[in-house]
Amino acid sequence: MREDPVEMSVAAPVAAPPEPQREALPTAPSTVPGGAPLSLAPPAAGIPGAAPATVPAAKIEIRDLNLYYGPFRAVRDVSMGIAANQITAIIGPSGCGKSTFLRSINRMHELTRHASMDGQVLLDGVDVYSPEVDAVDLRRFVGMVFQRPNPFPTMSIYDNVVAGLRLGGGARKADLDEVVERCLRAAGLWDEVKDKLRAGGTSLSGGQQQRLCIARALAVDPEVILMDEPASALDPVATLRIEELMLELRGRFTIVIVTHNMQQASRVSDFTAFFSMGEDRAGYLVEMDRTARIFTNPREKLTEDYVSGRFG
Ligand SMILES: Nc1ncnc2c1ncn2[C@@H]1O[C@H](COP(=O)(O)OP(=O)(O)OP(=O)(O)O)[C@@H](O)[C@H]1O
Ligand SMILES: [Mg+2]
Repeated sequence: MREDPVEMSVAAPVAAPPEPQREALPTAPSTVPGGAPLSLAPPAAGIPGAAPATVPAAKIEIRDLNLYYGPFRAVRDVSMGIAANQITAIIGPSGCGKSTFLRSINRMHELTRHASMDGQVLLDGVDVYSPEVDAVDLRRFVGMVFQRPNPFPTMSIYDNVVAGLRLGGGARKADLDEVVERCLRAAGLWDEVKDKLRAGGTSLSGGQQQRLCIARALAVDPEVILMDEPASALDPVATLRIEELMLELRGRFTIVIVTHNMQQASRVSDFTAFFSMGEDRAGYLVEMDRTARIFTNPREKLTEDYVSGRFG
């Protein structure tokens, strides 16, 4: 797991967008027919009758995506659809490019020095890498929650939640109060903090801080939430709380979660994408399917070996 503290501190403000009133992303000619089934995985060779799983409506479609750090290709030729308002888990061994892949969806990959990409990431049919799309605007639609809770250290609980709205200015106090309560309730934290909203965000426990970060992500009204191992720094009780929260948010937001925890992937996600690594260390998508299928009857032996703990 690579952690870049500089990048993480950059990430928080961009994940908390600046303006309460946002513009729609520019509409580019869409090649994704609305609601048309998208193939999640190529048919596995040698499995008679194995048809690719489909999702009824893809919020995000990834096409031929390659991600690089300098000359090193970290992710190779990934194509997949991510279902709208469902939870998609990304699993795979350490270093196979899960975090890199996740960060490419809201263009955080490009914040890393020497990083580059080719291919397409379509959000509602709009290529997020097209010149008309502003990366900061994009991150209003596609928020992110990180492995370690990262509340703004000098801000109160209240100010952490509304930091993104305040950046844009103009929001009225009464409106902010409403946002704070609504988002803290949605993040399952309201009852625990309603009497100490002016206390520092970092005075909370790790699990509470992570729910605060989720409230902060929700405050800017995103459509997609990316979560990179959001519970891996938490104890089992706080982890379960985050999982319950994800299930509560399911149906309203498109959630993509990277997790090393197989039980977590099988408990919370609707779809699972399994990544592995080639000899050149480039990560690639082995298969993606409904979670129940990946864990009980995957198409690929590599997937079966991984989910049953035989490698990785
Ligand atoms: N900033 C960076 N500069 C150069 N190489 C990087 C950078 N970040 C990641 N990599 C490399 O890209 C590859 C994929 O890394 P990534 O962090 O995406 O993997 P991961 O699947 O998230 O791993 P983990 O499960 O350990 O978090 C690795 O070989 C890693 O060393
Ligand atoms: Mg990672």
